[in-house]
Parts: sequence; structure tokens; C-alpha cells
Amino acid sequence: MTKPSSSQHASELKRLLNEYNYQYYVLDQPTMPDAEYDRLFRELVELENAHPELQTPDSPTQRVGGHAIKEFPAIKHQVPMLSLENCFNDEELMAFDKRVRERLSNVSQVEYVCEPKLDGLALSLRYENGILVQAATRGDGETGEGITENIRTIPTVALQLRGDNIPRVLEVRGEVYMPREKFTALNERLESEGKKLFVNPRNAAAGSVRQLDPKITAQRPLAIFCYGLGAVEGWEIPATHYAMLQQLKVWGLRVCPLIKVVGNIQGCQQYYADIGAQRPTLPYEIDGVVYKVNQLTWQKQLGFVSRAPRWAIAHKFPAQEAMTILEAVDFQVGRTGSLTPVARLKPVFVGGAKVSNATLHNMDEIKRKDLCIGDFVIVRRAGDVIPEVVNSILDKRPVQTQEIMLPAHCPVCGSDVIHPEDVAAARCSGGLFCPAQRKEAIKHFAARKAMDIEGLGDKLVEQLVDTGLVRTVADLYHLTLEQLANLERMAEKSAENLLHALEQSKNTTLPRFLFALGIREVGQSTALNLANYFGDIAALRQASIEQLLQVQDVGPIAAMSITAFFQQAHNNEVIDALVKAGIHWPTITPLSEQTLPLAGQTIVLTGTLEQLSREIATEKLQALGARVSGSVSAKTSVVVAGRDAGSKLSKAQELGVAVHDEAWLLRLLTRDL
Ligand code: IVH
Repeated sequence: MTKPSSSQHASELKRLLNEYNYQYYVLDQPTMPDAEYDRLFRELVELENAHPELQTPDSPTQRVGGHAIKEFPAIKHQVPMLSLENCFNDEELMAFDKRVRERLSNVSQVEYVCEPKLDGLALSLRYENGILVQAATRGDGETGEGITENIRTIPTVALQLRGDNIPRVLEVRGEVYMPREKFTALNERLESEGKKLFVNPRNAAAGSVRQLDPKITAQRPLAIFCYGLGAVEGWEIPATHYAMLQQLKVWGLRVCPLIKVVGNIQGCQQYYADIGAQRPTLPYEIDGVVYKVNQLTWQKQLGFVSRAPRWAIAHKFPAQEAMTILEAVDFQVGRTGSLTPVARLKPVFVGGAKVSNATLHNMDEIKRKDLCIGDFVIVRRAGDVIPEVVNSILDKRPVQTQEIMLPAHCPVCGSDVIHPEDVAAARCSGGLFCPAQRKEAIKHFAARKAMDIEGLGDKLVEQLVDTGLVRTVADLYHLTLEQLANLERMAEKSAENLLHALEQSKNTTLPRFLFALGIREVGQSTALNLANYFGDIAALRQASIEQLLQVQDVGPIAAMSITAFFQQAHNNEVIDALVKAGIHWPTITPLSEQTLPLAGQTIVLTGTLEQLSREIATEKLQALGARVSGSVSAKTSVVVAGRDAGSKLSKAQELGVAVHDEAWLLRLLTRDL
């Protein structure tokens, strides 16, 4: 049994941490030093580990994301989630105000609450006795999906309400969104991992909350603003919408600070203009503003038409879409070598700005949107995000269009382009040589975990490349004191130090050197495995995909990326130049020649094995140092023939290669021969 003191202590820790979270994320006014937060957090984690029954859903430790689930449960909304009527101009807006006033016995002025219309996705949060018990998407308005575990991971979502007079049931409606900057950073991360990018912040938010594994959602920078209510029990709702929002804030729910009360519809027009002007600099995307009648008695009186309230309207910003012609597609090479297709468009005005280029993200997107050169396409500009092509208009497709093809060679350096299946991004394989990748390649080469060239920081790399002193990493080793000392902001002493560091870096290790080459998919540990397996760079350069697959942790994508890298003459020239400049490392005895019992043996498995699967047999043989091959040749050491062995067995007999049965294999694997 848990001692009452532990449980009290846990509650106190949860309360303190949730309070801090509220001050940090909701009020944007941190009051507790981060170190103190971390200390309390760790204390709570330890306490919960020791007493798992104290780990309640409202504990801040639960924000990291719990277990993955198979599907989202359907949640019926106790109060339906409605949508809003839209208006696009002053005339429609005035008509709305007139309808409202007429239905309210011709009052002369109506007070409205003005709110930004956030471009995210609607969410319903249910608190019972102040604890978040459920979060659901809007769905069709009647029934949504339960995404509670995912929503718990969002730092601006209160896990427990704070303060007094907490209602028995409080359903809060709001919008989940991804801040614009965070969206850009997320896409950059996804790009560098070769993953599919999100088209805009709204899609990113929607995709993130619908992850079956909450741990993934936990890593996505989501936030929420609350703007309304659903079911409520045990609370006398205040007289106005605005007062209601103020109370939500007191309970720790995040409400958009740009919300304002205005005295009449002219105030709404002014608000629309003000927010429109702020729109490009807001940290999140909005697609309009929303006006809501402030008096709740009046809201009740006005009621609903079909699926929308009569007491509210969305005033949308002008559609930022236009139609034009896709004239060509170019491929831009990013600093990490990824190839991004860029649409060249017949210039068109979209939301007041001329657009002649738009991103197409990647080849999958082109396929998904069914685009061809010559097509009529819809272009969209959202905020100050790069314009994008939304889709082609198939009805208008001209007879002669041209398919969009991924180039076989990098448009910048001519190296082969590789595009493994299942990976969104296509890449240039000329990592060491490609001018588009130059700066990143040199920064990576110099890094501490790579060649460890002290004093060669990012700024200096930029300077060296911009002044034309360094084109590839090999040029680093030919820099002179004079060249360096002539650089801006470079003292002679620093120049000397850098030359010294370069000299020292020549004495390196093979794993470091391999890592420094910046081959995609070759991180530190793969570099180490490759070095141990091959012993020297010459053997690695000639390695086939099949051989590479024998190396620990090297899968098909890495193997392909390694062979592609070494197939580029340019990369090899840079490596040769580096070795010539004096880079050296102690030799390693390759694993394949070490004392593993089956080192140097090539074994072929054929026919059906009864006792163990071919995959397992292969793994076990490889672990003992053997190479397992799919075809029989004079170099084959042994053929293991299972039941119904066919052509490979005959070939072995023809070539005089030793043939054994499965029983022999089992004895070999148990070392009982
Ligand atoms: S009020 C009955 N307020 O717009 C009231 N909605 O077109 C219904 N939205 O599904 C919603 N910001 O996802 C409201 N300040 C705001 C909003 C907002 C964004 C979204 C929401 C809703 C859609 C309706």
C-alpha cells in the first residue's frame, strides 16, 4: 500500500508542475527556474516509478506519450460541434448584422466578440471534476475520434483545471494548430531524415494529432487556443461570451490574446482590417476572423440554422488561390543534397502578389496531385509560406502534356541522383563535391566527432567557401598562413592555430574519416561497423551491395547510398586528394579476416530447410563470419542442400563444390563438427 504521505507528495508535485506549465505556456510568464522544474519533475517520475498507482492521467509525466493504439475510438459529442457561416465582403457582413438585429427586436447595436479564425483543427476537451478525461476531433460534428492520449502531450493543454468552483463537467472547444516557425523547422527535420514533408501547418497539425503512437505526437510542436463550450454541468455560465472566455483563462485554459469586444459591426470591420494587417507577422496561420454575439441570452434567442449558429459568422480573408499554367519543373538541390521539384508557372496574381514559382515538395506529391508540364493548375499562397501548387485541373488538360521526370543526374554537379523506394526525397550522391552541398559537407567534415578540426567553425567555413579559397574538403589542407591571415576578422595567431589543428587532424582513425565523408545513412556507429568490417577504405570503395549488407546495421538503403557515393568519380578524387595531403589512420584487421570460425567461407543455402528458416540460418552463419550468397560459383565453399534442392545443387556437383545437408548445418551452427 502507498503511504498517504507519498500520495500527498505526488499530488503536490503534480499541482506545482501543472501550475508552472500554466504560467509558462498559457500565460507566457515563467515564474520557476527551469532547473527547479526539472528537479520536481524527476522527483515525481521517481515517486511514480516506486508507486505506479500514483501515475494518474493528469500527471505532467504523462505528456511524453503513452502506449501506441490500433485505432481511435468513436466519440459521440454530447453537444454537436457546429461549423460557421462564411462571409467574404462588407456587404455580406452588413447583411449578417442586419439579420441579427432584426431577430433581436430591432436593437440598434450589437456587441460582438472578435476572434482570429485559426487555421488548425477543431477539438473538444472534456474535463470531469477538473481533470482532462477525453479529447475528440470534430469528425462530422456529431461523432468524432477520441485522441485523448495524443492531446495530453500538448504542453498548452491543461491536464487539470486550476482554481476554484470547477464544474462537474466542462467541455471546451478549441483549435489545435502548429506555429508557423515550428512547422518550418519540423519540415526541415523531416527533410534531413528523408521523410515526407507536410504541405502546410494545418496538415502538419492534423497529421500529428492522428498518430497512433502518442510518442510521435509528443515530438510535434502543437498548441491550442480555446474559443467555446460544449456540454457543461455544475456551472452557471456567465452572461457574456467574453466573460466566459475570461473564466476559461482563470481555470488555466489557453485563450488567444487577440480576442476583443467591439460595440457594433463597424468595430468588427476595424478588427478585420487590424488583424489582416498583423496576419503576415502572426506566429500562426489564420484564414479570417470570427464575430460572435457577446450576450449569451441573445445567442440563445438567435439559435441555429442547419449546422451553424445564427449568432456568429466567419469573415474570411480573400481566397489566395488562382489558376495558371505549369510551364516547367526545375529541380533545386538543397544543402543536404535533397532534390526539390520547383514549378515554373505562367506568372499570376495570387492574393495581391505575383507568383511565378511554387514548391512541389517531392515526386510523390507530383504523382498524388497528378501534375504534368502544360497542365492548368491551382496555385495557393497561405500567409507568407512559399506558394504551392494545389492540384491540376484534369478537365482542362491539354492534349499535349509532358510527364515530370526526376533527373538522373544532379543539376548542380552532375553526380547520380538516388531515390530509394519508400523514401520521399531524391538526393544527389556527390556529397563531397557538389557545390550545393559544399558548406554543409565541410562543416560536417570539420566537426568534433568527425575530423575534429579545432577552430574551423561554421562561420569560418562560410567565409572560406564564399571567398573561393575552399571548394572541397581537400582544399582545407592546402590553405596557407597568408591566405588565412588575410581573411576578415582573422588574427594571425588564430590562422596559425587553425593550420596547426588541420595538421593534427591528419592523424585520424578510419571510423572518423568515414564518418567525416558525410555519406548519407552513415552515422558514427555505421562508420565504425564499416571500418571494422572492411579494415580499409580501398575494400569499402569496391564493396558490392551484397557485401555491405553483411555489415552490422547496414540495410538496403544505407548500402545503396554507400555504393552510390563511391561510384561518383568526383567523390573518389576528393578522397584521393585527402590521402595525398597526408591524412592517415592506423590499419584495422578486418572482421572478415579475423578469427571468426567461418571467416572467408562462402556458403549457399538451397532447397527447403526443415529446422530453421533461411533468414535465421543466414544470420547465424554471418555471425560466425561466413558470407552467405545466393548463387553457386567456383568460389563457393559449401552448398547446404535442403529438401527438393534443384539447380543450385546440380551446379555445385558440376563444379565439384562440397555439398552438405541440413543436419550438417545444424551441427556447424552448434559448433559440433
Ligand atoms: S467557433 C458554433 N471560433 O472554424 C461555433 N471556430 O468554420 C463554431 N475556428 O470548426 C466554431 N477559429 O475549427 C470558432 N475563434 C474561432 C475559430 C473557429 C477557428 C474553426 C473551427 C470550426 C471552423 C468553423
